[in-house]
Amino acid sequence: MRRLWDILAGVGVLVVLAGSIPATRAATHTYNITKILADHPEFSTFNHYLSATRLAGEINRRRTITVLAIDNSAMAPLLAKHLTLESLRNVLRLHILADYYGAKKLHQLTGGSAVASSMFQATGDAPGTSGYVNITDHRAGKVTFIAQDAGDGAAPASFVKSVKEMPYDLSVIQINDVLTSPEAEAPVPPPAPVNLTDLMSKKGCKAFADLLRADPDVEKTFDATVDGGLTVFCPGDAAVKAFMAKFKNLTTDGKASLLLYHGVPVYYSIQMLKSNNGAVNTLATDGTSKNFNYTVQNDGEVVTLKTKIVTATIKSTIIDQDPVAVFVVDKVLEPRELFKIAADVSAPAPAPVPVAKKHKAAKGTASPPAPAGPEEAPADEKASDNAAGRNGGRWVVAAVATVATVAAVGIY
Ligand SMILES: *[C@@H]1O[C@H](CO)[C@@H](O)[C@H](O)[C@H]1NC(C)=O
Ligand SMILES: *[C@@H]1O[C@H](CO)[C@@H](O)[C@H](O)[C@H]1NC(C)=O
Ligand SMILES: *[C@@H]1O[C@H](CO)[C@@H](O)[C@H](O)[C@H]1NC(C)=O
Ligand SMILES: *[C@@H]1O[C@H](CO)[C@@H](O)[C@H](O)[C@H]1NC(C)=O
Ligand SMILES: *[C@@H]1O[C@H](CO)[C@@H](O)[C@H](O)[C@H]1NC(C)=O
Repeated sequence: MRRLWDILAGVGVLVVLAGSIPATRAATHTYNITKILADHPEFSTFNHYLSATRLAGEINRRRTITVLAIDNSAMAPLLAKHLTLESLRNVLRLHILADYYGAKKLHQLTGGSAVASSMFQATGDAPGTSGYVNITDHRAGKVTFIAQDAGDGAAPASFVKSVKEMPYDLSVIQINDVLTSPEAEAPVPPPAPVNLTDLMSKKGCKAFADLLRADPDVEKTFDATVDGGLTVFCPGDAAVKAFMAKFKNLTTDGKASLLLYHGVPVYYSIQMLKSNNGAVNTLATDGTSKNFNYTVQNDGEVVTLKTKIVTATIKSTIIDQDPVAVFVVDKVLEPRELFKIAADVSAPAPAPVPVAKKHKAAKGTASPPAPAGPEEAPADEKASDNAAGRNGGRWVVAAVATVATVAAVGIY
């Protein structure tokens, strides 16, 4: 029963999550490139590979972009090259321009030409000028595109038609040929499989990695989330050491929830974290109550995580490589679901609250000053419902992971 409810709750989270990190710049549209292209069967191959290379999610997350779509027959010669998926990903990235070009703008280019940067340019995989696309508006009204380092003898591709325009968020236009370059096609080493706990152990989070290893269910939840996108905030060794007495006081479920609380089932690069503020849900979040969340807040280059109990600061990066990022933080993140909000800042550290029993946490006590926000809620949650049950937690995770792209809508 509980399990079924959790599945339903997990599904419910899809809708709710959509606005979980409010963009600094209000996004006027949300869109799903897969769905847009599905209305045009002539782009089914291109569409398939946008999903297979995980670029569809990146497109959905971005604003002010142009997608240069290729029909099935023009895709065939590219596929005949049998590039690895990672190289194909780079070639397709040349077709995603970081600016809005509708049909009208293309036919009115200042000076008759423009240089657009593509998502390939933005990856850092692209050396020199590769990753830029030359656009030329010829006198007869013909518009052509070519990768700036296309190589000798490469012919430009031509504008065919506008497929979808959502000014000034997304423009999808058809071009008659694939854009490519030797750099884009160059072999890319497949991403090394990430062993989270090993990586953390080697880079300053050994104590936290040991806690994960000690709970195989929790460790598995982290590992299983990587492919769909995962951001981990791991407390450094000193922070874990200082916290151990409190940790030992937690129930088994409380310990699991606390560990899961340090994982967010969406990949956030440090750049995304630096440019957006807002609440994020975690691996411990239960779909119904959206509990076990915290606020990401940046101040210039400094990114903090505010849980109502503690404010932790990101100190360093262990890995930041789509789809996974691990950042070291200077404090253990204490969820309000497990710890009492201190009555005043000078009071001694709050004692953990046993999670097995229902309780009224901190009701009537003064909260530390905190900005009012939609996440501001009375602290009288039912703790027993808040400890993410292992099964429950996992179901929610699976559902959240599949909509990671939805969750990140508007992050740019
Ligand atoms: C986008 O649309 C496709 C096809 O309709 C669907 O399968 C997919 O789940 C959608 N993606 C998101 C993130 O909603
Ligand atoms: C792209 O444009 C630049 C100048 O804007 C030019 O130097 C370069 O040769 C062009 N590349 C191609 C392949 O046309
Ligand atoms: C990570 O490496 C350790 C050994 O160092 C191994 O026990 C564990 O199973 C690995 N985890 C994954 C997910 O491969
Ligand atoms: C552990 O729990 C006990 C009983 O609730 C409490 O007295 C003690 O202060 C707690 N220890 C820590 C480190 O929070
Ligand atoms: C954060 O969690 C609290 C419960 O602790 C919940 O009331 C609130 O709605 C959540 N906020 C968001 C933005 O999900």
